[in-house]
Amino acid sequence: MRHFMITPGGKLSGRIRVPGDKSISHRTLILGAMAEGVTRISGFLESTDCLATRIALEALGVKIETAAGKITVYGAGLQGLRAPAAALDMGNSGTAMRILCGVLAGQPFISTLTGDASLRRRPMRRVIEPLASMGAVIDSEQGCAPLTVHGQAALKPLRYELPVASAQVKSALLLAGLNADGYTWLREPGISRDHTERMLEAFGCVCLRADGWLGIHGGTKLNGMDIEVPGDLSSAAFFMLGATIQRDSHLIVEQVGINPTRSGVITLLRKMGADIRVSNERAMGSEPVADLEIRGAALHGIHIMADQVPLAIDEIPVLMIAAALARGDTVLEGAAELRVKESDRLQAIADGLRALGVKVELWADGMRVTGINAFSGGEVNSHGDHRIAMAFAMAGLRATAPIRIADSRNVETSFPGFAGLARDTGLDLDEAGR
Ligand code: S3P
Repeated sequence: MRHFMITPGGKLSGRIRVPGDKSISHRTLILGAMAEGVTRISGFLESTDCLATRIALEALGVKIETAAGKITVYGAGLQGLRAPAAALDMGNSGTAMRILCGVLAGQPFISTLTGDASLRRRPMRRVIEPLASMGAVIDSEQGCAPLTVHGQAALKPLRYELPVASAQVKSALLLAGLNADGYTWLREPGISRDHTERMLEAFGCVCLRADGWLGIHGGTKLNGMDIEVPGDLSSAAFFMLGATIQRDSHLIVEQVGINPTRSGVITLLRKMGADIRVSNERAMGSEPVADLEIRGAALHGIHIMADQVPLAIDEIPVLMIAAALARGDTVLEGAAELRVKESDRLQAIADGLRALGVKVELWADGMRVTGINAFSGGEVNSHGDHRIAMAFAMAGLRATAPIRIADSRNVETSFPGFAGLARDTGLDLDEAGR
């Protein structure tokens, strides 16, 4: 098992880029595979999660090549996938499993999606049930993977209100809707990331919007295209945290995606007093990007309400570590979804903070964190969760003794090269184990 060891102190400085956006990278491959013609991708995230999507699409008969740092996908069309010879292993990736489940529901063959122990514990009824209303039959182990998808050539169109705001579910149903006979309409109880809609429109598919409903017409052809993937704001967030919590830090992260359905971490850190400047805003294809300049700042506690959670869904670990070093209390509400991420993130954050000397009151869908001046040293168990490992690694900058992060291997699922980049910018981080 691999671990991070962080020696306390240091500050972050420099001008860096983070790897490509994970959500967008998955979608470039999947939409490229469903398109007609060729899709060329630059800035693709070469992480194990995105690799799982690539390998699955190749097993479904899609030709994908890498040359000179670019990926080329030869589109198979809306229903051009072929039955795979074996189960498709999505590793640790909920995004890959849920979105591909929607794609496979509209392919006329049987296929099986499986994953690692964490993914096989995550709830899949949220895609199984609406896809069943469209006519696909999906067998599961009590709502969890492995999922065996009995796809249908012509799905029924769907009108569906999602019980939770989820970009993975929305994307699965939109892509199933491409193989439905008529309009599919979806409505969410909150805003989730809109990368799929933006990319579908760039591929030539009209997305209709009326009274909070999002509609798509089955049979709309997608046209392959060239795509550049922006830097991942969720990866930049660890560096934003590190630079914010340490006085005298000054860090610039270039070319980061700042899609407003994802940028809650910037809003909330600023609300806590963080000094984050956004400059050089521009469009990269259908996504907005900018450079972020972060300086160390004194923070104060805030109240994070339920409607703000989906906009920062993957950055709650970062925000709670910032909260632990803020003056006063920070309260998080309406974050029950974090219990079903790569780990039970509410529990993992609370346990990690307590191990570092922080007072935390935890409840079913949130927590109260009382700020302190510095973390004690100690051991934090990441529970194999990449975002828990990277967020707690940054805590070392403001600790009084070394911090050991147990089980850091899954950092590779979203951020290959994290440890090296963190060291280059000033974090005293060693890796041990295999
Ligand atoms: C993602 C959506 C979010 C997010 C995940 C990536 C996506 O999950 O937490 O890391 O790429 O669609 P939910 O859809 O479950 O909220």
